[in-house]
Amino acid sequence: MTIDIEESDWFFAAKEIEIEEEEVKVVQVLDRQIGLCRFEDRIYAFDNICSHEDACLSDGIVDGDRIECPLHQARFCIRTGEYLSAPATADIEVFPVRQIGESVYVQVKLASLT
Ligand code: FES
Repeated sequence: MTIDIEESDWFFAAKEIEIEEEEVKVVQVLDRQIGLCRFEDRIYAFDNICSHEDACLSDGIVDGDRIECPLHQARFCIRTGEYLSAPATADIEVFPVRQIGESVYVQVKLASLT
């Protein structure tokens, strides 16, 4: 699979070897802070900022495909972005991921930049 970086909204995020299970690697893509995490040998990318307030989810606890916010303990699914518990009332954004060789790319739509 090839990605035409010049003609797309796919961005290099990290080397595959840098992304581990139950640990969040944080990368900056444009003005988005994105968390990368591995679950069952797939890599997922999600907004690293909690939808409740401005806590960094990467400072929280990852348990399988779930992450718990360090500030008020809301939980989210890292695969879908779905919020799973209060006090969050909104999902976090997730980003498509592609791996080419050892490189991991995430798709960040320019329209999602606010
Ligand atoms: S800031 Fe994440 S649950 Fe409140």
